[in-house]
Amino acid sequence: MIRLSCALALVILLCCTIFSEPVAARRSDPSLRSLDNKRRLEAKKRWESSPRRRSGASDARRARDTSAPPGVKNITFMNPMASKFYVDGTKIPLVDFDVGPSWAGLIPIGGAADETGKLFFWLFPPGPEGSPDDLIIWLNGGPGCSSLEGSLQENGPFLWQRGQAVPTPNQWSWTNLSTILYIEQPIGTGYSQGNPTAKDENDIAQQLVGFLQQFLEIFKELKGKNLYLTGESYGGMYVPYLANFIYENTTRATLDLDLIACWMNDPTIGWPVVQSQIGAVGFVHEFKRFFAFNQTFLAHLDSVASKCNYANYTEKYLMYPPRGPLPLPGTSTVNDPNCDVWDEIEDAALYVNPAFDIYHIGDTVSALL
Ligand SMILES: *[C@@H]1O[C@H](CO)[C@@H](O)[C@H](O)[C@H]1NC(C)=O
Ligand SMILES: *[C@@H]1O[C@H](CO)[C@@H](O)[C@H](O)[C@H]1NC(C)=O
Ligand SMILES: *[C@@H]1O[C@H](CO)[C@@H](O)[C@H](O)[C@H]1NC(C)=O
Ligand SMILES: *[C@@H]1O[C@H](CO)[C@@H](O)[C@H](O)[C@H]1NC(C)=O
Ligand SMILES: *[C@@H]1O[C@H](CO)[C@@H](O)[C@H](O)[C@H]1NC(C)=O
Repeated sequence: MIRLSCALALVILLCCTIFSEPVAARRSDPSLRSLDNKRRLEAKKRWESSPRRRSGASDARRARDTSAPPGVKNITFMNPMASKFYVDGTKIPLVDFDVGPSWAGLIPIGGAADETGKLFFWLFPPGPEGSPDDLIIWLNGGPGCSSLEGSLQENGPFLWQRGQAVPTPNQWSWTNLSTILYIEQPIGTGYSQGNPTAKDENDIAQQLVGFLQQFLEIFKELKGKNLYLTGESYGGMYVPYLANFIYENTTRATLDLDLIACWMNDPTIGWPVVQSQIGAVGFVHEFKRFFAFNQTFLAHLDSVASKCNYANYTEKYLMYPPRGPLPLPGTSTVNDPNCDVWDEIEDAALYVNPAFDIYHIGDTVSALL
């Protein structure tokens, strides 16, 4: 069985504390209100001197070459609704440094007054070296993994990874270079709200586009940006379906973003048997110093790999250019009976090393202490 796990429990533990301060309390503080006004005035100047491009991809590309003079990188938003989502970067619980401004909260997936489906997002503006022209959307996988996993453990402005006692700034944060929008989706994931009704990736893409339409009405300054769709793991399904939905079902009049590119890390793009089982035994041999398996077990894995047609699959089919679609090694898209080397390997690895992590095979208990 394929395991696309996520560190959801940790993420939920962290986030229950992060957003515990009621937004309303902050808003009613007059000094913060005037700060919001100051930010809106700054925004006005900034976006007036950097004209929006509304006309389409080729215009957008031209505009990028002759782009507006590099100026203030602080992004602020004119719509008073936006201030309701403002996160004060000095007040994130347990984070003892200033994360900078960001915006987070719930936005509905449609414009109807009775829409109950809402997605949770966290938006970070670019750092001083970053481009104000781009918007990156990040989606974790699962399905059902919180995209805050990517933010808090992988590419966000502060990290709280396994083995860290406290959060630390991430000097490699993607937010250094671009505006990043982390979205918890589909409905049913993380802090998102409503009844999970999506039946396939097209439904999920439709929810996301509905969310983006509502989002852009609040964060209007992000309209017309170059859009990059990114994600990992099951995001390998979300990203291309979302891109396709944007191409087939929206226009610049209904979704004012200029979709430029997609990027997926460690993506799910095929059958579990091909993506997980077939490569597993070769991987164990390649990285044997991390697994420390005994000879008996290694011989057993080799014999299963051979019996289940995993052994020579890579040489036969993984070539460029491909001969055609990758065939199944047996009859199942997951694994035939007695051909589940993936779980055998993970169980044995955990037996030798209780801290074994499929995403970070070098972890040991002592390394995490
Ligand atoms: C951007 O925001 C930071 C933090 O609020 C502030 O110190 C800085 O002066 C601002 N930069 C500009 C150019 O307004
Ligand atoms: C990212 O930005 C932070 C804060 O401005 C800076 O300290 C860090 O060096 C930057 N990282 C890179 C790789 O440039
Ligand atoms: C999206 O566009 C495709 C192709 O035109 C169409 O078949 C599909 O019904 C559309 N979906 C929605 C939700 O509008
Ligand atoms: C795989 O290749 C090896 C050596 O090329 C060969 O000995 C073995 O029989 C092959 N196994 C299968 C299952 O075809
Ligand atoms: C070899 O490893 C397997 C898998 O962890 C284990 O079940 C078995 O007991 C080990 N055999 C010896 C002789 O240590």
